[in-house]
Amino acid sequence: MQAIPPVKAILKAEMVDKTFPLPAGGEQTVLERVTVHLSEGEVVALLGRSGSGKSTLLRILAGLIEPSGGRVLMHGQPLRGPNQGVAMVFQSFALLPWLTVQENAELGLFARGLDRQEAAAEATLALSMVGLEGFEGAYPRELSGGMRQRVGFARAFVMKPDVLMMDEPFSALDVLTAENLRGEISDLWERGKFPAKSILVVTHNIEEAVLLADRVVVLGANPGAIRGEVKVDLPRPRHTKNPRFVQLVDYIYTVMTNPQAPVTGLPEKAAADRRFPMLPHSRVGGVSGLLEIVNDRGGREDLPQLAESLRLEVDDLLPAVDAAALLGFAEVSQGDVVILPAGTEFAKANVHRSHQIFKEQLLHNVPFMSTVVEALRQKHDGRIGKEFLLDILDEHFSASEAERQFQTMVEWGRYAQLFEYDADEERLYAVETEEPQAAE
Ligand SMILES: Nc1ncnc2c1ncn2[C@@H]1O[C@H](COP(=O)(O)OP(=O)(O)OP(=O)(O)O)[C@@H](O)[C@H]1O
Ligand SMILES: [Mg+2]
Repeated sequence: MQAIPPVKAILKAEMVDKTFPLPAGGEQTVLERVTVHLSEGEVVALLGRSGSGKSTLLRILAGLIEPSGGRVLMHGQPLRGPNQGVAMVFQSFALLPWLTVQENAELGLFARGLDRQEAAAEATLALSMVGLEGFEGAYPRELSGGMRQRVGFARAFVMKPDVLMMDEPFSALDVLTAENLRGEISDLWERGKFPAKSILVVTHNIEEAVLLADRVVVLGANPGAIRGEVKVDLPRPRHTKNPRFVQLVDYIYTVMTNPQAPVTGLPEKAAADRRFPMLPHSRVGGVSGLLEIVNDRGGREDLPQLAESLRLEVDDLLPAVDAAALLGFAEVSQGDVVILPAGTEFAKANVHRSHQIFKEQLLHNVPFMSTVVEALRQKHDGRIGKEFLLDILDEHFSASEAERQFQTMVEWGRYAQLFEYDADEERLYAVETEEPQAAE
């Protein structure tokens, strides 16, 4: 399953091994036959458990330590000594306390032969990119942890490296600070303003990997060997509530918690198992509310604008938008939600009719629902236990996601009057439909 190296590979590790001598004698193999590459224009995340050798691999790629076997190629040339095309951002920064923010950011530039003025100009620019304008004269002790980390980024940015390596750059920060800084970094990348040609980011955090990376490379432990990679086929900017996002996070979580599982990545969106589309976590009321608003506004609405007018984030609307799309009520085109005929009908329908329309769309677009209904019909007592369905869902989702899928399925199925659910007994049961005549 060797990946074909692309033409523009900037940096590559080929069959890299690394062993360290153990204090009691003998040696520990930390990396084994690791082959990875990094191409121009891509962000790769390296994900692995603690001790799997992520930082060691980064140090080898940066030329700070030598591999015990295999080799590193930079622009096709074997690497000897520190890699001049690489800059690093670490978990936390040892800034020089006696230097100002500006002087700390200039540090690496003198070694490159820039004069004072040039260095000052580069540092000022890099500091403004990380939102530190106005703090140039401050000393590290006067800064918060988040701001110090920004100086760390500026220090790497001034080098305009081919590859920017980040070793858990946000993990020492509190959640909100991390989220802000991560957002700003990916924003720079998305706007094409990032001062490096490619990024290699090491993280423990699966969501972070899926937010940032084009590919997530999974490193196993003991010894660290590449288990496989997962392509992140999501447009940018990314939204954590997008079902595909949730699905990718879920998939990676499952492989991370099953060290023996093969890492093959998820099938292409189109080829995904149509019988088990991931149900967005949206209530029926959310879908109908959205459709009513879009319908009232002429049947087409710009998503960011719609969110803003409702004082929401686009992320808040996505579950309802995705559910409407999955059910064939609407489609999303160039950032607009466009209502489809079934959606217009649903938005205008009376209560009775809306249950019917929902049922038709649900059975048509979520084949698993028909399976459930059929199973209920065939059981002589007309009941199915939750466990039975969870067992099936478990094959397609992680345990926690299977539970959420079940909850959504129950909510939608009840609205469609396909079945009832007894939460105490944890059983679905068939409901008598009074009017078997055709709807049309
Ligand atoms: N210089 C060294 N000498 C001896 N052993 C080392 C050295 N550097 C790393 N190791 C060992 O190599 C293994 C991998 O370490 P490494 O720091 O690369 O892991 P990691 O994946 O970055 O972990 P973490 O997620 O905790 O940062 C560990 O068992 C560590 O003890
Ligand atoms: Mg590490």
